Amino acid sequence: MTSAYPEIYQAWKNDPQTFWGKASALIDWYKPATKIFDPEQGPYGRWFAGAECNTCYNMLDRHIEAGRSDVPAILYDSPVSGQKARFTYSETLEQVMRLSAVMQDFDIQKGDRVLIYMPMVPQALFAMMACARLGAIHSVVFGGFSADELAARIDDATPALIIASSCGLEANKTVSYKPLLDKAIASAKHQIKHCLIHQREQCRCELITGRDHDFTELCEQAAGREVPCTSVAATDPLYILYTSGTTGKPKGVVRDNGGYMVALAWSMGALYDIHAGDIFWTASDIGWVVGHSYIVYAPLLIGATTVLFEGKPVGTPDAGTFWRVVAEHKVKVLFTAPTALRAIKREDPEGKLLHQYDLSSLEALYLAGERADPNTLEWAEQMLNRPVIDHWWQTETGWPIAGNPRGLGILPVKHGSTCVPMPGYDVQVLDDAGHPAKTGELGNIVIKLPMPPGCLPTLWQADQRFHEAYLDEFEGYYKSADAGYMDEDGYIFIMSRTDDIINVAGHRLSTGSMEEVIAGHPQVAECAVIGIADKLKGQIPCGFIVLKAGVTQAHSEIEAECVERVRDQIGPVAALRTVLTVNKLPKTRSGKILRSTMQKIADHEPWKMPATIEDPQTLDDIRDCLHQRGIGTCSEATKPAA
Ligand code: COA
Ligand code: AMP
Repeated sequence: MTSAYPEIYQAWKNDPQTFWGKASALIDWYKPATKIFDPEQGPYGRWFAGAECNTCYNMLDRHIEAGRSDVPAILYDSPVSGQKARFTYSETLEQVMRLSAVMQDFDIQKGDRVLIYMPMVPQALFAMMACARLGAIHSVVFGGFSADELAARIDDATPALIIASSCGLEANKTVSYKPLLDKAIASAKHQIKHCLIHQREQCRCELITGRDHDFTELCEQAAGREVPCTSVAATDPLYILYTSGTTGKPKGVVRDNGGYMVALAWSMGALYDIHAGDIFWTASDIGWVVGHSYIVYAPLLIGATTVLFEGKPVGTPDAGTFWRVVAEHKVKVLFTAPTALRAIKREDPEGKLLHQYDLSSLEALYLAGERADPNTLEWAEQMLNRPVIDHWWQTETGWPIAGNPRGLGILPVKHGSTCVPMPGYDVQVLDDAGHPAKTGELGNIVIKLPMPPGCLPTLWQADQRFHEAYLDEFEGYYKSADAGYMDEDGYIFIMSRTDDIINVAGHRLSTGSMEEVIAGHPQVAECAVIGIADKLKGQIPCGFIVLKAGVTQAHSEIEAECVERVRDQIGPVAALRTVLTVNKLPKTRSGKILRSTMQKIADHEPWKMPATIEDPQTLDDIRDCLHQRGIGTCSEATKPAA
């Protein structure tokens, strides 16, 4: 079959407004847009200006009104708790209305922020949808973050209510959320008056009288209460999702209602080939954008069934768990991060567990979140004998920038490439001076403004920061901060970041924020953190410290304290395990730390002594230090000179 993609992409390019105007028919509106795109609003314009809608209505009520009440909306499968549950569209609406009623009793109104700190449980989805129903703006915080990160989000979003679970369940331990929540609330400047606590049997927590309220009890009391959907402007925020920036202060990515719904609904058919009634499983976490868009919003917007999986690719109980879920729930499309596949491959390289299951329902596997290494991708293709599709996007965009639009007719797969840009995205590659790079030449990947519907219109109460972070460097373009190239067929290859972001097990983290934390150690004079290659997690952070003069404390003790500080102040998910003491950091004569050369040394890549280096000995020291710890230094390029 030839793909309709070239024609559709061209149709968008010729007339973006007509394209998105037509796509907007996938959504029910209370009031249509007065302008499909209004270039006068916001930092670069706004989509569906003048329109009114409600996202929860589009996810639940309209499917029920269309007679699909008994279709499953959520299939909860939790090997870590041993629980499974199934919620039809009408059962989901009942739960969402109860919670909306409870939130109304706490006086939550349109535009109020609600912070959600919950693991992969159905109640978290109900909370997100209840916010959408009331026009409140949710901000979900990933469970693997520390109390400090939670406090930073509380202070930035200034929520009127927090909805939290008592604990999360990891493969081999229970993580109590409540002590982290209490610590965050105590240290935040913004005062929290009310918390709704969802008590899990695995670890119930103490409730603070007056502030904490029992989620389940209040929802049960609200049974049967009807809460209508609040009409909001298409351009009103649906949520804020914090992501790593280049400083310790996370960026509050804002998502609107109307444009997001249109883009997600369009992507489900065209990119994933998923339609009403299909079973779609995104194995990620609701704390990340992938979870927001493709566990929660997109599947329900189009009337499909979403699988909510609370577990890990390995260890819950084994590397066959993903395939068990696919077989049991008849999943049509699975979407996960390459790290998850690497973990499965490591434990079940020959697919012995995989072959135990009937995977006949599965049509394709999608990967995103980090670079998909061709080895892993080929392994998955061989094991599954189905298309394995790498696609590229960011928290900022909310939906894929580039991918293989299977719903329009699959294009040839090229390993190492995230395929072609989706309609809405005019992707270009520029050199550092802003000139177009040649075909095949590495450069800065940018998107010509305006960004399509669904992408961030700005950062939460930080238009200036939005401009500085994304728009100022290449005028007229959004800077993705990814480096890569395009080939002669227009296929995109994403190679690395141009900033300090690293990708650890598909989790986006800033080495700059880790440096801020380590620099706070009283004995540390200066430090650098780089991302180094890791077979399982893609990248892991590695820290280098220079101690203050006269420090007598054992170096190993200080290094361990730095590791602990990052775990405590950022969270276990940062996965910083190695900190090494050196005499001096390698710097240019103007004082810039040579992080990328350090990274090349650690990753066994060829490197050259930079002409501007202040003291060549410092790089030799880094090399020796890594060598002594068995990190890097195995290749010719990095072998210490004889
Ligand atoms: N709540 C609390 N703690 C969490 C957490 C959460 N939601 N998620 C991770 N953590 C903790 C882990 O328990 C671990 O703690 P530890 O240092 O005490 O052991 C730490 O954070 C690092 O976790 P993780 O990166 O998950 O590493 P792991 O070694 O436990 O597991 C994998 C390795 C490959 C199985 C796991 O990283 C994985 O499933 N990756 C896929 C990620 C993914 O789907 N990303 C989606 C982005 S699209
Ligand atoms: P996040 O905002 O957490 O979704 O992370 C976005 C970043 O992850 C991107 O800017 C890329 O650096 C990286 N990324 C996401 N998907 C891919 C992919 N398919 N290939 C390479 N890198 C990716």
